[in-house]
Amino acid sequence: MNPGNTGDEHNTFCNAVPQMAGTFKALGDLTRLQIIYLLSTDTSGTLGVSDLAARLGISQPAVSQHLKTLKNEGLVESRREGFYIYYTVNRERMVEFREHFEQMYTSVMEKCSREMIRKTTRDRPIRACVIFYSYSGITRRVAEGIRNASGCDLVEVRTKKPYTWLNLFPTGVMRARRQACDPIEPGTIDVSGYDLLIIGTPVWTGKPTPAINAAVRALTGCEGKMAVVFITYLNCPGEALEILSRALADRGVRVMAEISLDEKDTKNPDAGSELLRKIIAADPLRGMDDGITERNLNVT
Ligand SMILES: Cc1cc2nc3c(=O)[nH]c(=O)nc-3n(C[C@H](O)[C@H](O)[C@H](O)COP(=O)(O)O)c2cc1C
Repeated sequence: MNPGNTGDEHNTFCNAVPQMAGTFKALGDLTRLQIIYLLSTDTSGTLGVSDLAARLGISQPAVSQHLKTLKNEGLVESRREGFYIYYTVNRERMVEFREHFEQMYTSVMEKCSREMIRKTTRDRPIRACVIFYSYSGITRRVAEGIRNASGCDLVEVRTKKPYTWLNLFPTGVMRARRQACDPIEPGTIDVSGYDLLIIGTPVWTGKPTPAINAAVRALTGCEGKMAVVFITYLNCPGEALEILSRALADRGVRVMAEISLDEKDTKNPDAGSELLRKIIAADPLRGMDDGITERNLNVT
């Protein structure tokens, strides 16, 4: 398995690097940052060179020079009205910069997480697997983040008949409430080769999803395995974690940690690595031979 960024993501990031370097250079100056601050806090949209010079206490040519640098990087825009030229911050460019920065941050944090795990290697690598269901992609992004940061395996459970917006609430919610099992693919999930199972689901009406209920039933070779369960939800986790943990315990799985991720947690672009850090801190393999607390999660 080849964990980490896909080629496409890598290329997008590489293409963005020269632009980011230019932006960092343009912003790496106190006066230019002050200009950005003044422009962004101005509600009139009518700040010109002379106003900026007066507020900053520097000459107009100096302001013009700084504005030119900011404009060249696309960070600032200008418009002419009669004799006057007014300056504003280019919001789209700022949004793009933030996206590039987050991409860089995620990529760096994934590498840091791998390094963190590598440093905690004691003896043989442990084999971990994330088993998850996701309807709208949030849990998937978290699960993929764990995979990218650790190199572990990923099993996405899908309902044989996907929910639509029409039947999601009447049928999906009702089935979740009844703790029913949906027909899923894969039909069996053999976990005999893993040391640690990481099982994640969104919360539906305060309960685990019918697909993850089915996934717990579909496990084979799970007796005695250690597991961490996680849920993603908006603001009301209900009893989802307890129910999922109980179902796993009924299958002989030892749930060593339960982790909840609310909307704020899942909005973090680094949510997968953050969860992995929480998993390592929870020390799910405690008690495994010789007091080993943390092991290598199959990092390549
Ligand atoms: C049918 C349905 C029921 C939901 N019920 C709850 C709930 O009871 N409490 C809550 O906080 N969020 C609830 N949510 C929000 C999801 O749990 C949350 O957005 C989750 O992170 C979505 O994960 P996913 O994108 O992997 O499907 C519900 C969402 C759906 C679609």
